[in-house]
Amino acid sequence: MVRKATIARAEERDISQVVELIFHLDAHVSGAPREVLKMTPEGERQLAGHFRSFLHNPYKLLLVARSARARVVGMGDIALWMQAEVWETPERQGQWYGIIDDVWVEPEYRGQGLSRLIVVELAAFARSHGVESLQLEYSTSNEEAARTWNRMGFRPVGVRAAASASEVLALLKSDETPS
Ligand SMILES: CC(C)(COP(=O)(O)OP(=O)(O)OC[C@H]1O[C@@H](n2cnc3c(N)ncnc32)[C@H](O)[C@@H]1OP(=O)(O)O)[C@@H](O)C(=O)NCCC(=O)NCCS
Repeated sequence: MVRKATIARAEERDISQVVELIFHLDAHVSGAPREVLKMTPEGERQLAGHFRSFLHNPYKLLLVARSARARVVGMGDIALWMQAEVWETPERQGQWYGIIDDVWVEPEYRGQGLSRLIVVELAAFARSHGVESLQLEYSTSNEEAARTWNRMGFRPVGVRAAASASEVLALLKSDETPS
């Protein structure tokens, strides 16, 4: 069954539902059941504040997909950033890039092109500001995200590597050659 939803710029009335979707996204990425995930009231306030910052910032855009009953069933955002001018070389100056984040579609609304519509609007927003470079992150274990982003033209360009400090120290110390 096709469930209809429309994409729009987020408004104040959407913020609490956006926070709820981030909760769903977090449960999905971490693999933790939603029932055991709990956010502190301060955490919720901070998250709501973070998303409110998108509403009036000309370099940020937060989109929501609203169902016919105005339920928020999908989202995605972009923030445009300019690299600090550290280069005198003209071609390295004034480089802007757009960070896409928080793309989520509720399961019952998937597979009907909502994330595609969201990304089209996010990319158009970047281009309307003269920004061509788009970046985003996903976990390598999230094959669904990898396939989706690949279909939309995103290719991995780097690796975020993680380690525990204790493990690094144990490994490097065991390799130490006595002088
Ligand atoms: C990934 C996600 C955002 C896709 O949303 P969606 O609205 O169902 O995606 P669309 O219907 O717009 O499909 C967009 C493209 O991705 C492809 N795609 C979507 N889900 C896919 C899946 N599970 N496996 C393979 N390809 C997929 C579609 O085929 C489509 O490409 P096409 O139009 O060229 O055929 C949604 O499944 C989701 O919220 N997943 C969980 C959160 C997540 O992983 N988010 C990614 C951020 S890191």
